[in-house]
Amino acid sequence: LGIPALRDRGTPQAGPPGGVDPSPEADRSSGIGGELPGFGGEALPCHGAHQAGVTTTPPAAHARYVSYRLRPETDRDGIRRMLRILTGDVEGLASGTGPLADPEPELAARPARLTVTVGVGPGLVDRVDPLKRPEWLAPLPPFSRDRLSGQHDGGDLLVLLQADDPLPIAHAARMLARDLASFAEPLWTQQGFRQARGAEAGGTTMRNLMGQVDGTVNPSPADEDFDGLVWIGGAPEDASRDGRGGAGAWLEGGTALVLRRIRMELDTWDQVDRPGREQTIGRRLDTGAPLTGGDEHTPVDYEARNALGLTVIPSFAHVRRAHSEDPDERIFRRAVNYDDGAESGLLFACYQRNPLRQFVPIQRRLDELDLLNEWVTHTGSAVFAILPGFEPGETLGAALLE
Ligand code: HEM
Repeated sequence: LGIPALRDRGTPQAGPPGGVDPSPEADRSSGIGGELPGFGGEALPCHGAHQAGVTTTPPAAHARYVSYRLRPETDRDGIRRMLRILTGDVEGLASGTGPLADPEPELAARPARLTVTVGVGPGLVDRVDPLKRPEWLAPLPPFSRDRLSGQHDGGDLLVLLQADDPLPIAHAARMLARDLASFAEPLWTQQGFRQARGAEAGGTTMRNLMGQVDGTVNPSPADEDFDGLVWIGGAPEDASRDGRGGAGAWLEGGTALVLRRIRMELDTWDQVDRPGREQTIGRRLDTGAPLTGGDEHTPVDYEARNALGLTVIPSFAHVRRAHSEDPDERIFRRAVNYDDGAESGLLFACYQRNPLRQFVPIQRRLDELDLLNEWVTHTGSAVFAILPGFEPGETLGAALLE
């Protein structure tokens, strides 16, 4: 009575059971007596060398970060079982078949490009083997302007859910919370968004809630040096890079996530005139082009001077302070906006091999001088090791437990 039937996840779907069919025909059909229209039926593969959801293009419209704290009794064996269950859940949710014993499989059936990305925090790795924790997998060093509230910091396990529709995200979050409950308890949740799918032409850089085009100068997965900046490799230099003689070998194919919750003071920002707002960043508000001219993707001319002999991009401008001359000191940014009615801002996420060599020096410069600081405050901070990708039959994070 009332016991949900276990669903067979291994069976390939003959057709969309309410619709996992990414074909354009499915999008064009009428939906009356035929295939369901819309993009909800699109499913992304969750297998591969890297987990889905880090470089997924275009980035999904909705994101939810859920951080968990391990229960005191969850030992190494418990972590192993937890990761096995999580792996099955990721496969079921991403494909649209739903996790085992899903009481509402209809809510899983239209994943809208759902990705579930799993990361581990310092506490989890320490419980497995403290010698396996890379130096960077720790709370970030403090910055003078940080005002961390304690509400959105750290955690032992991170699940990042992203999709073009908030419904499959809500469902996935509930199913994961159910399956993780005996191993871990929720610590915090943060939700963010970009423009809805279809609101802008494909490839348009997102806008943040200050109105700026945000994400222009960013390494692209198509760049030759992207892998070296973002994915943790097995090469000896990674072992020395992490400073612990290979403590990160189990992370080959993974990456390091830094997540900062950054509140925006939009009321006072709105009082600044347009030139003032543009000088704060060093770029135009309408097109995102540098103040030194061109279009959005024209390189910034940091040397250009105006009639008064002053640099066109002011010394305090955000892009001047954030820009790195060192090509190894770059990060892959994937921010989303947040707005819960009472507060709004940016969930600033970035991926890299080693936050101590990439995020930290950039943030040190911004902390020291950046006019943007007048209107933004960092109130949450977390670092997670995003686990390497996995293939069918493999378990997420298996190398950590070897
Ligand atoms: C560039 C906004 C925080 C690193 C930019 C740009 C905008 C922007 C509008 C110019 C367009 C672009 O290239 O994306 C913001 C806002 C922030 C914020 C509103 C906070 C709410 C941060 C933080 C970091 C960062 C915390 C890293 C520590 C960068 C980098 C660039 C950039 C690396 C590109 C610089 C270059 O041109 O080389 N940001 N940003 N930003 N930002 Fe931020």
